[in-house]
Amino acid sequence: MLNNSQYASSNKYEARIYLSRKFKINPKSKYEWIFDHFPKKENLNVLELGCGTGLFWLANRNNIIKSWSIILSDYSEGMLETARNSLSRINYNFQYEIVNAENILYSDNTFDIILANNMLYHIQNRDEAIKNIRRILKDDGVFVVSTMGKNDISELHNHLYTFLETKNNKFRFKEFSFSLDNGIEQLIKYFKNVVMEKYENKLEINETEAIINYYLSFNEIYDNVIILPEEYINGFRTYLQNILEKEKLITATKDEGIFICKK
Ligand SMILES: C[S@@+](CC[C@H](N)C(=O)[O-])C[C@H]1O[C@@H](n2cnc3c(N)ncnc32)[C@H](O)[C@@H]1O
Repeated sequence: MLNNSQYASSNKYEARIYLSRKFKINPKSKYEWIFDHFPKKENLNVLELGCGTGLFWLANRNNIIKSWSIILSDYSEGMLETARNSLSRINYNFQYEIVNAENILYSDNTFDIILANNMLYHIQNRDEAIKNIRRILKDDGVFVVSTMGKNDISELHNHLYTFLETKNNKFRFKEFSFSLDNGIEQLIKYFKNVVMEKYENKLEINETEAIINYYLSFNEIYDNVIILPEEYINGFRTYLQNILEKEKLITATKDEGIFICKK
């Protein structure tokens, strides 16, 4: 799976999200859709774990309730720095804190909303993290977790696999350790009420470089494997161009959603 060096700075992550943002067909972003599931009371204490570059709050900047106290946290200083810079143009008093989700030190019953977007699958000791998230959530609070399912952009991965097989390379992405398919059994140990909601979306891609850069961004950080070696790039580009000439678009169905957890 992905190793720690990928989040030392935000560059590789940004290369990956370019693909999913530029070519998505759902006009509502996933972050706006997730925000729709938040309670909208005044004076809530909100914590985001693994906030990355702060995209969630940027997407929802016009709907944030002014009386909320919001902490953006991540274990990567590089990510927090990018988040701080990109959110500096929003007139909101966010707090930024280094927090390793495997070692949460906040007091019991502190937060009304805890958000973990696409990050629980990175955590080794996930059971301990979820137990602590429950501990720091208020009794009437809500924990919102987003992740992917095993079929996320499988059509695109199949193109990569078919191309790699022409080079006798049998690389396959592994199933996520925390996904829409296996997340519920991990959460239900600590939350009485867990509901899954799916975000409908698809990518329609007409640019070969976006796909190439997406896969290049995994090189060496995914099981320390070079997924797309430099010497394959031209061949993969030609392979994708041939598909685009025939089909006009390369489509890839997103398999994404959230779990809404209550104590
Ligand atoms: C895929 S990114 C998601 C970023 C952001 N939540 C979003 O949706 O744009 C995963 C993030 O989790 C952070 N992360 C990974 N393991 C972590 C841990 N143990 N504690 C806190 N943050 C962690 C990474 O630094 C990275 O910013």
